[in-house]
Amino acid sequence: MNQEGPRTRGIARIYEQRSIARGYREITLSYALGYQGPINPQPGQFFTILPHRYPLTMMRRPFAYSASSNKGFSFIYEIRGTNTAELADLEEGCQVDWIGPLGSSFSHSESDTRPILIAGGIGVGPIYYFAQKLAEDGKEPLVILGARNAELIPHLDWPENVELRICTDDGSMGIHGSVMDGLENIDFENAEFFTCGPRPMMMAIHQLAKLHGSPCQVSMEEMMACGVGACQGCAVQVVDSNDLSRQMFKRVCVEGPIFESREIVW
Ligand code: FES
Repeated sequence: MNQEGPRTRGIARIYEQRSIARGYREITLSYALGYQGPINPQPGQFFTILPHRYPLTMMRRPFAYSASSNKGFSFIYEIRGTNTAELADLEEGCQVDWIGPLGSSFSHSESDTRPILIAGGIGVGPIYYFAQKLAEDGKEPLVILGARNAELIPHLDWPENVELRICTDDGSMGIHGSVMDGLENIDFENAEFFTCGPRPMMMAIHQLAKLHGSPCQVSMEEMMACGVGACQGCAVQVVDSNDLSRQMFKRVCVEGPIFESREIVW
């Protein structure tokens, strides 16, 4: 798990918005306008985005980075409130204001452990980016995606050396069951877990990893207001690594969103 690096701010035009599953969009922003430098986030990091037409009093919203290409850089989001509905309304060419990359990132150890990446729902965004980075490094991650049904499984172009297992609650695609059912035949002794999704799912994976003594990193999601460590609104309860009997709070937007799962007070 790495801590945040330098962040910057820019204005970008929307290159493309496309629907990738029912209620899920992928938005791609062009690189240019206002910032010409490289954008090289680590997997798990996020950006805050504000549509440029909004009044400045509108709150920025956090979006986990999900891909980069020669067209621009992308985020996957679910339309589930006023802000994301407004974002989904914006057409190609509209401008957005972004700040990033923010927060900590997933990091796979240099050992020979196999990365097992598990996403539920909108947690697919950072997992998709992490899988691409691991594949670029010559790793062969196993990715397990869970959703209620096939309509909610995003259509994405996964790298060839990723093994993909899809799990749906109703059995309409892949394995009939939850992501836990997708964990069959895993060599737990040589596995390292990374997960992003609903809290109960991440807690179950944490417990399983702990049982087998496997490392596990989780991407915590909390409501964010400022996104840069000022308001304390996104704090989660953690164990103090220097004194395990003591608990404290850490900010998801600065010390997170990626944490060792053993750190979290579940
Ligand atoms: Fe304000 Fe994290 S959102 S401190």
